[in-house]
Amino acid sequence: MEARVAVHRDFRVSTIDNRLYSAFIEHMGRAIYSGIYEPGHPEADANGFRKDVLKFVQDLKIPAIRYPGGNFVSAYNWEDGLGPKDKRPVRLDLAWRSKETNQVGIDDFAIWAEMAGIDMMLAVNLGSRGLEDARNFLEYVNFPGGTTLSDRRRANGRNEPYGVKMWCLGNEMDGPWQIGHKVATEYGRLANETAKAFKGFDPTIEAIVCGSSNDGMPTYPEWERQVLEECYENVDYISLHKYFGNNSKDTLNYFGKIEETGRYIQTIAGTIDYVKSKKRAKNDVHICFDEWNVWYHIREEDGRRIKEWDWPEAPALLEEDYNFEDALFVAGLLNEFIRRSDRVRIACIAQLVNVIAPIRAEKGGPAWRQTIYYPYQMASLYGRGDALNVAVSGPTYDCRVADDVNYLDVSAVHDKEGGMLTLFIVNRHLTEKADLDVSLTGFANPSLAEHFVMQGYGLEETNGPDRQDHVKPTNGSGVGMEDGKLKGSLAPLSYHVLRLKVS
Ligand code: AHR
Repeated sequence: MEARVAVHRDFRVSTIDNRLYSAFIEHMGRAIYSGIYEPGHPEADANGFRKDVLKFVQDLKIPAIRYPGGNFVSAYNWEDGLGPKDKRPVRLDLAWRSKETNQVGIDDFAIWAEMAGIDMMLAVNLGSRGLEDARNFLEYVNFPGGTTLSDRRRANGRNEPYGVKMWCLGNEMDGPWQIGHKVATEYGRLANETAKAFKGFDPTIEAIVCGSSNDGMPTYPEWERQVLEECYENVDYISLHKYFGNNSKDTLNYFGKIEETGRYIQTIAGTIDYVKSKKRAKNDVHICFDEWNVWYHIREEDGRRIKEWDWPEAPALLEEDYNFEDALFVAGLLNEFIRRSDRVRIACIAQLVNVIAPIRAEKGGPAWRQTIYYPYQMASLYGRGDALNVAVSGPTYDCRVADDVNYLDVSAVHDKEGGMLTLFIVNRHLTEKADLDVSLTGFANPSLAEHFVMQGYGLEETNGPDRQDHVKPTNGSGVGMEDGKLKGSLAPLSYHVLRLKVS
């Protein structure tokens, strides 16, 4: 197939907020315990954090991390994780039917986040607890000293406040499964009062209110309208969550879900605009897509296990093995976030280690990178700068979830300071190569500096502890500058990162 692409230096969507490449980690399964933290492991440091896992995390250059939940946060007592480890209580985690030992709490996690070079984005419990507890947590974390709570932090070894700016007001409060689930107006009011209190403490705090748990919820998108009508002026972001899968074994339909996600974003953007106008508000609310990933390979198995569990500690839960098809999907979804970066400012891959995650850590064994690690890393490393509006002209297809889906999925990011233009391209065609023809307007002397490619794997191929980096990017060929245009041939089912030096 032939595919023409037009990129113009001045047709800018937005300057990408680096937090588009953030992550989420929850006290769930083996994400924290025997994930990032495993005292006694040969790779553990003095605090019990695994250095091999940390290295993989650092290599992703993640800007922010949402913590500690997820469903877990809705019945979590943050105070349980403070002070001497042998004095911390063991509690039941009602969300995941496990035992929470509290060996990692906020002060421990902060040490890890600092080593990883990642800003914390903290979620407060608006399920079993509320405003009073949330404001105490904020004071413990962010107040310099001289109050009971801030001095408690200092006594626990952390003198300086953490200065956390991003605060999530609960988690998936629309979901009947959520502990302390609420109706929209009830939650919207609580979120408003909590956001007000937080901004009273520090007006530079960014408050993130819960949107729908996914676009299939019966209350979607009415939930967003009702919630925002209660709290619009006091919040900065509304969260979106969505998990994906290819249960029907229909690859093109799977990829079409990226288009569907675009509609989801568009709908919430429209709802934000509607409420803003209705309230004659001045402030803008953006989207924080703070849970996204592929999650379907072992969903049923997890359902069975949940019933059988006897409240274990850190059970292996949602440990998806991602294949090459999932890597192509994740690459495309990140393209969609780049294309919508005027409305989506923050997005978090869910999750980071072991639980539906790009990084796996075998208990007592090695850490390894899943197939999806790589497109996430490529976007995080090279997707910073201005997102450009790309026009693609080529064949399209219809599928169950969307019509007119481009076989060639493209996003473009211009890093003005670095003098680089990066094109992220997925050829989603199952059998045909794409003859690429990219016209570049407004860029002087473009030259291809780097070409990374993921191609040639079977869709079902995975990595594993014994197949480390089997599926990964390699250096590409067959694409180059010709008469001022970028031209070449892209294999069917392939992912490309084309980095051009521009001036
Ligand atoms: O990431 C796993 C779970 O998915 C989270 O705890 C919850 O917020 C979502 O339903």
